[in-house]
This record gives sequence, C-alpha cells and structure tokens, in this order.
Amino acid sequence: MSRRPWLVTGGAGFIGSNFTLYARQVLGQPVVVLDKLTYAGNLSSLDPLRGDPDFTFVQGDIGDAALLADLFRTHRPAAIVHFAAESHVDRSLLGPRDFIDTNIVGTFTLLEAARQYQQTLPPEGHAVFRFLHVSTDEVYGSLTPEAAAFHERTPYAPNSPYSASKAASDHLVRAWHHSYGLPVLTTNCSNNYGPLQFPEKLIPLMLCKALAGEALPVYGDGLNVRDWLYVLDHCKGIARVLSQGQLGETYCIGGCNEQTNLSVVETLCQLLDERRPRADGLSYRQQIQFVADRPGHDRRYAIDASRMRDELGWQPEETFKTGLAKTVDWYLANEAWLQRVQSGAYRQWLQTQYGDQA
Ligand code: NAD
Ligand code: TYD
Repeated sequence: MSRRPWLVTGGAGFIGSNFTLYARQVLGQPVVVLDKLTYAGNLSSLDPLRGDPDFTFVQGDIGDAALLADLFRTHRPAAIVHFAAESHVDRSLLGPRDFIDTNIVGTFTLLEAARQYQQTLPPEGHAVFRFLHVSTDEVYGSLTPEAAAFHERTPYAPNSPYSASKAASDHLVRAWHHSYGLPVLTTNCSNNYGPLQFPEKLIPLMLCKALAGEALPVYGDGLNVRDWLYVLDHCKGIARVLSQGQLGETYCIGGCNEQTNLSVVETLCQLLDERRPRADGLSYRQQIQFVADRPGHDRRYAIDASRMRDELGWQPEETFKTGLAKTVDWYLANEAWLQRVQSGAYRQWLQTQYGDQA
C-alpha cells in the first residue's frame, strides 16, 4: 500500500460502506474494513471494491481484543474511523443487550487497542494518528418545537437504550483523550438517508413497503421531527473533521433540514408516484397508516452545524429534494441489493415489529 490505511469499523453498514466507497473512489485512500456482518452489515455493499489491492475486508468483532491487536500490528493504520454499532432504536427497545456489548464494551475494547497501538508509533506516526468516533444527535435527547437546535455544548440527555449506549461511548472516547492522550475526534450527526441503508429505517422501509403494496406504518401522529442529511454529505463532513478537526473536540453535523415524519413519507410517495406509478393510478399516499407510537419517542431533533461551517468550511451539498430523489432512484435501480439484504431474519424482524401489517 502506498499510504497507510484507515481502519474503518462497521464499513459494511449503511454509512460505513458509503464512507469506504468515498474514501477509496474519491479520496484514493487505502482502507481496511473491520465488520462483524450482523444483520445490518452487507458485504455486497462493498462489491465495487472487489479486487482493489488497496481495500481489505476483515470479518470480526470490535470486542475481540486479540483480533484488534493483530489488525493493528498487520496494517498499522494512520487513522481509525469508528462506525461499528448497533444502530436501530426500535431494536434497542426490544433487546438492549447487544447495544451495551457493541456500543459500550466494543468501543472500550477498540479504545484500549488503539491506545496500545499508539504507543508503538514513531514520532511522525504519533503526530498524524487519529481516532474518529462517529456518533449521533440522539445523545442530546428531545427538543420542544421552539427550542434552539443541538450544538456541541448541549448537555447529554439520552432517552432510548440506543442513545444511552452511544452517549456512554462518547464519554469513553472523551475520557481516553483526557486521561491517556488518545488523539480523538467525535462527530454527532443527525438522521442520514441515501443509498445502501438497511430497510428497517424510516425511508428505505417505507419505500419497500410502498412498492410491495403494504401499509406505510407512521408512528403516533407522524409529527415527530428529524433533521435529515444525505449520507454522502455526512461522509464528506467526517473526512473534513479527520483532516482538520481539533483533537479532543466534538463536531455537530446536520442537514439544516427539519421535517416531520409524515412530510418525509408524503414526499417519498410523491417521488414514487412520478417514477413508478401504482397500477390503479392512485397515489402511494393511500397506503399511509398511523400505528401505535414508539415508546419514549423523541419528539424533535435538530442540529446547529455552524461550527462545521465556520471552522471547517463544510456544509451540506444536497437539498432534501435532490437527495431524496437520488435515493429513490438508487433503490429503484438496485432492487437486487434490496432482495439480497432481506433475509429470513429481516422478515422475522418485520413480523415482530409490525405484526400482521408486516
Ligand atoms: P448500520 O446499522 O447500518 O451499520 C452498522 C455496522 O456495524 C454493520 O455493518 C454491522 O455489521 C457492524 N457491526 C455491528 N456490531 C459490530 C461489532 N460488534 N463489531 C464489528 N462490526 C459490528 O449503522 P449506520 O446507520 O451505518 O450507522 C453507523 C454509525 O453512525 C453508528 O455508530 C451510528 O450510531 C452512527 N450514526 C448513524 C446515523 C443514521 O442516521 N444512520 C446518524 C448519526 C450517527
Ligand atoms: P428511524 O429511521 O428509526 O431513525 P431514528 O429513530 O434513529 O430517528 O426513525 C426515524 C423516524 O421515523 C422516527 O421518528 C421514528 C419514525 N418511524 C416511523 O414512524 N415508522 C417506522 O416504521 C419507523 C422505522 C420509524
């Protein structure tokens, strides 16, 4: 390898695979992906990198200290970009254990391995080494409609097992910097959407259900608000923080794009009406169905990304309209990918979560 690689954990998941493709195809950066390939990890997302000599895939768990030591010894990464996590709030409500194991204990194990590795680096390697921890805006809790958006100094107030486990991991990352001098950076990003997202999250789930002629299950009154960011804009933001961020600091990344869930689903229906009209000529909106709310459902998330803009010169390039159109076009052109990821375990999840409407 010409340059030392980045170690990308969770690189077969939604954001991690988009980031890996961006790092290889746009930045020309060698990458080693470590991924356990849980239900959410799909090696086929990385198919475009097959045969690429500057890309290595390793299947394994971030909680496996021996594997991590071996990986660091073999590949001597210039940076770690840590995406690996259990990431779905609804799953965390039904079974929080995996969230504790991966998001907290796994991150702890990775931090320790990185700390030991750092001690083996020569001074020039020490100066450039980075550990970038990818986190979420959900650690800040829920906003009232009129409250100011989350920013880097908003106090933590996580409400779900998922967000609590991510908050715990953020605190560990911070402490490893202050206590041990590990060169960390943390990003807290809003909801992502785009190609390669597993169809359990709102946008791809609704798209699959719409095409299958099934009910579109909107939780509660559909007026919960999320701040949606196109995944490639997030990847570019992470790369910017990696190259220019200040060690030990956190960066809030968001889309400046607050939408109610209902409005997201309606926009999606409209795009599908234009691109793949229903046989009966009616709108996919007909399929929207309000269902029981998620327990403890956070009402509103919003990010103030002014630090990213003012200090690092980053801002989203896609509007929601352009980003969602690209996303719908990608899913319509990649139904084979969708078929591959919808395993028996996925169908079982739909049955557990949505019952007879699955
Ligand atoms: P994802 O669920 O699509 O992918 C997670 C990946 O991690 C999968 O490939 C999975 O196989 C892997 N993984 C899980 N446990 C592992 C373990 N123990 N060891 C190794 N690999 C493991 O998640 P995503 O949506 O791509 O999110 C990636 C990261 O970004 C997460 O840390 C998440 O908290 C954060 N984030 C996500 C969003 C979002 O909207 N999706 C927003 C902000 C932050
Ligand atoms: P999700 O994609 O699970 O992301 P998060 O909970 O991390 O924000 O959900 C986004 C929003 O969509 C959230 O307010 C819950 C809502 N939602 C539904 O209304 N119906 C669904 O079937 C799903 C999966 C989510």
